[in-house]
Amino acid sequence: MEYTIRRPDDFHVHLRQDALLGPVVRETARSFGRVLVMPNTVPPITTAAQLCDYRRAILAELGAPGRAVSATGSFEPLMTFKVVQDIDPRSVPDLAAAGAVGGKLYPHGVTTNSSDGARTIDPLLPVIEAMEAADLVLEIHAESPDAFCLDREASYLPVIESLVFRYPRLRVVIEHVSSAETVAFLSDMPARVGATVTVHHLLLTLDDVIGGELRPHHFCKPIAKRPEDRDALIDRVLAGDPRYFFGSDSAPHLRGDKESDCGCAGIYTAPVAIPLLVDLFERHGVPIRESDAGTGDGPSMERFVSRLGAEFYRLAPSTGSLTVERVAWTVPSVCEGVVPFHAGHDLAWAVRDPI
Ligand code: DOR
Ligand code: ZN
Repeated sequence: MEYTIRRPDDFHVHLRQDALLGPVVRETARSFGRVLVMPNTVPPITTAAQLCDYRRAILAELGAPGRAVSATGSFEPLMTFKVVQDIDPRSVPDLAAAGAVGGKLYPHGVTTNSSDGARTIDPLLPVIEAMEAADLVLEIHAESPDAFCLDREASYLPVIESLVFRYPRLRVVIEHVSSAETVAFLSDMPARVGATVTVHHLLLTLDDVIGGELRPHHFCKPIAKRPEDRDALIDRVLAGDPRYFFGSDSAPHLRGDKESDCGCAGIYTAPVAIPLLVDLFERHGVPIRESDAGTGDGPSMERFVSRLGAEFYRLAPSTGSLTVERVAWTVPSVCEGVVPFHAGHDLAWAVRDPI
């Protein structure tokens, strides 16, 4: 049994730097043809020159200056910059010309490498206005730093609402949506407000993090919440709601940095994301391939991972394909020093590597 689908896009990845960059890029490129690259590097990506250097470093890890990585498709990093106070709004057109498709807003201290994040939104408004003018997407890590951890996402929604109404042409993505409140909020928003959904927020609740033993490899920001929150996400994704598209937030950290008394947030899902999504859609009886979803815009996994994000970002559909096959395999316990999601577990579906 196998399915061949249009090559998936991942609209939210952390590819990292230095020694981790190569293994993470190569693993990510096994499943995805285009990835939206997060800018929370050290130092952050805030200039056109840094953005170009980072893209060059990513592509160099694939062993060729060009894009081709396999017979089944290509790999294209879609670049972003960090929306911080010291960006001169006049540099936004340069960032767009260098290939940025969006800018990422991190509130202060809410996640990895966000100590330079925004304490209040006002100082960022000139940059956001310039982004609207340049037709760049504003990607938001939607959490209020000072709220209780389970309420942080919901408590940031008024900030998003104010931006959406202040900038009537701005496209906004609420990244790694994790709560039922945000799902309700999105249903009242115009279509130019979308959301990425990770595979881990579709599978985990807080119980999987701290309900039994402490599971540092399930710890991420925003933290997995109640069953009702997870089910609200599953409901929208399986319904094929076009504003919800795939963004893995695959976020590798070395094992010692997670298994620590001050462990980093982030789950490395790149090796398992597609197999786990096939399993999820199958279990719920939702087709994997668009061609099995009937005529029109019926829900399918292929539409979620290979079409809706590109449509939101106004990109051409991805080229190439990906084949997943029903082959049992055991997820390695460690990949290049990083413990992947579902490490040591048996999965029923595998991504087929190109010949
Ligand atoms: O869990 C997370 N890890 N959430 C984020 O927003 C950032 C990411 C990282 O960079 O490690
Ligand atoms: Zn992220």
